Amino acid sequence: MRILFTGGSGKAGKHAVRYLVEAGHRVLNVDLRPFDLDGVETRHVDLTDAGQVMDTVLNYAALDELDLPEKPSFDAIVHFAAVPRILVTSDAECYRTNTLATYNVLEAAARAGVPKVIFASSETTYAICFAQGEKRPDYIPIDEDHPTVPHDSYAMSKVVNEATARSFQARTGADIYGLRINNVIEPHEYETLFPTFVNDPEKRRRNIFAYIDARDLGQMVDCCLRTNGLGYEVFNVSNDHHSVAATTPELITRFYQGVPKRAEMGERETFYSNAKAKRLVGFQPRYDWRDIL
Ligand SMILES: NC(=O)c1ccc[n+]([C@@H]2O[C@H](COP(=O)([O-])OP(=O)(O)OC[C@H]3O[C@@H](n4cnc5c(N)ncnc54)[C@H](O)[C@@H]3O)[C@@H](O)[C@H]2O)c1
Repeated sequence: MRILFTGGSGKAGKHAVRYLVEAGHRVLNVDLRPFDLDGVETRHVDLTDAGQVMDTVLNYAALDELDLPEKPSFDAIVHFAAVPRILVTSDAECYRTNTLATYNVLEAAARAGVPKVIFASSETTYAICFAQGEKRPDYIPIDEDHPTVPHDSYAMSKVVNEATARSFQARTGADIYGLRINNVIEPHEYETLFPTFVNDPEKRRRNIFAYIDARDLGQMVDCCLRTNGLGYEVFNVSNDHHSVAATTPELITRFYQGVPKRAEMGERETFYSNAKAKRLVGFQPRYDWRDIL
């Protein structure tokens, strides 16, 4: 497929773009920062500028397309570009960038007739990650029906983006899938981060003890590209297992006493359910920290 990928120069994007290229897709990266990968051009575009976004969606992926009989259109847009958490810039700037960039991408996709958009939402929508003090889930495991009423500007921007995406899907009938991505782990971070995570579950509480390998996130994007006709959907994206040495029952005793349990859970099972992604798009995470360390 011919794919426009925003934010491909970033932490998650660079692994997802590599995965998609290896899977045979043609990818144009759109970002404010450079990215060096054979076969992938990066277009310097500020996504908060609607004109620049419209131009990019309607334009060539690269010069070689001048040799085609006519200019091709994009089969899908994968939108990852964002301010990726609070406290990178001001709260208002984080909210402005994330909501405006997403609106511009969705509007350009609608006007250009792009049949599929996959966009990065976040685990933070469930309000736990950036809450003041300790906030516990309403129930476990957390699935996509769990309320999303966060207190912080980053997560608010993601909730708003989901509402915007849902409305554009209703307007156009295109497939628009939102990924509520958990904490992204790059391959080198198993060695640098996991030794502390594994033995100190308190450090993983705000991530609901979960994680997602960046390469598995690439697989999830590819699964979404290959699955058509779902309309608007959101998906939790996480590993099958949590990120700490303690067992799931031990974590419940220490952190989630009294939190309603809606399903029987395995010894290592994540509290961040990926069952919907498995069921609807065939996602199957491959990279587990226990196998890697
Ligand atoms: N990293 C995580 O653990 C995590 C977890 C959940 C969700 N997410 C979401 O996944 C996506 C990717 O996150 P990441 O960790 O790779 O972030 P990142 O900051 O590493 O990458 C984001 C990219 O977006 C680009 N960008 C920002 N504003 C832009 C603009 N106005 N125009 C064009 N490009 C712009 C940046 O230059 C950067 O390369 C984000 O939407 C983030 O909110 C990330």
